[in-house]
Amino acid sequence: MTRVFSGIKPTGHLTLGNYLGAMRRWVTVDQHRADALFCVVDLHALTVDHDPARVRRLSRQGATLLLAAGLDPQRCTVFVQSHVDEHARLSYLLECVATDGEMRRMIQYKEKSRREQERGGSVRLSLLTYPALMAADILAYRTDEVPVGEDQTQHVELARDLAVRFNQRYGHTFTVPRAIRPEVAARVMNLQDPVSKMGKSEDSGPGIVYLLDEPDVVRKKVMRAVTDSGQDVVYDRRERPGLANLLEILAACRGEEPERLSGEYGSYGALKKDTAEAVVEVLRPLQERHRELCADPGYLEGVLRAGAERASGMARPTVDAAYRAIGLLPA
Ligand code: TYM
Repeated sequence: MTRVFSGIKPTGHLTLGNYLGAMRRWVTVDQHRADALFCVVDLHALTVDHDPARVRRLSRQGATLLLAAGLDPQRCTVFVQSHVDEHARLSYLLECVATDGEMRRMIQYKEKSRREQERGGSVRLSLLTYPALMAADILAYRTDEVPVGEDQTQHVELARDLAVRFNQRYGHTFTVPRAIRPEVAARVMNLQDPVSKMGKSEDSGPGIVYLLDEPDVVRKKVMRAVTDSGQDVVYDRRERPGLANLLEILAACRGEEPERLSGEYGSYGALKKDTAEAVVEVLRPLQERHRELCADPGYLEGVLRAGAERASGMARPTVDAAYRAIGLLPA
């Protein structure tokens, strides 16, 4: 059976980008046809300046939202990264296989370290080595497919390179994974700045639809989305990024194609209105389920405990094999 692994990082409230770019496929496709693991990758949240209480809160909220979105613990494994030691154990070995140069080439490292320096802050070493930990997340489970949004493709490519290199040097140990991206909405853009990604860690609230935004807040954000100066509704990501973003969001919500939808609209106003309603409808059941789950915190704890146990059992043999292959004495 195909093994699928993916994760979300608790550095901010989850957004429509996380949902349309990744989570929705996990719920509707992956958990039904694969042996799938979904993880709240809390260790990754420590790679930037962080508040411990906030990371704890966001980790719990992220896990709750995964279940609220429809992940079923009877069908897939939902867990928290730091509950399974194999991730950190394997990450160190992969740091010994990766090079400094390939880590520094990562776009997210370049962007985030520049931003951090501009703010006058310091760049944590773990921000540089982050892709080794992410590769460990994936490789520990002999993952075949990694369903992610476009921004994670480069990291998954690196995980592939490390798997191939490790296997060549030390003997076949890892499955070589591949990234799977959604056909539409692989990169949902900020509604106020449609050339930038809608990212949960950014602080510009009005351009970001959060999964827990009230319907009226969603409507307001979508209706105020920055569009382009043209009049006609055409799908052109390069020339008309604001409009293209709305068409992609609407298409993703309805399971249609953005080009086809563009032909249905004569004005920006009508498109915005339909997009706002489509987003509200997609979020409604998720928000209802989230409220129910919050009323029963014991349920989430049980799911995460069982998930970590199952995940550990899957990862340990592979990570042990990697320790032996690379030359470490068995304990
Ligand atoms: P994270 O937490 O930033 O995002 C979680 C998932 O959401 C996707 N995504 C988007 N897709 C479309 N448009 C957007 N605006 C948008 N914003 C986010 C991301 O591509 C991702 O699929 N490094 C990862 C977490 C991670 C991981 C892993 C993923 C750690 N280890 C192993 C897969 C496998 C991250 O920061 O995702």
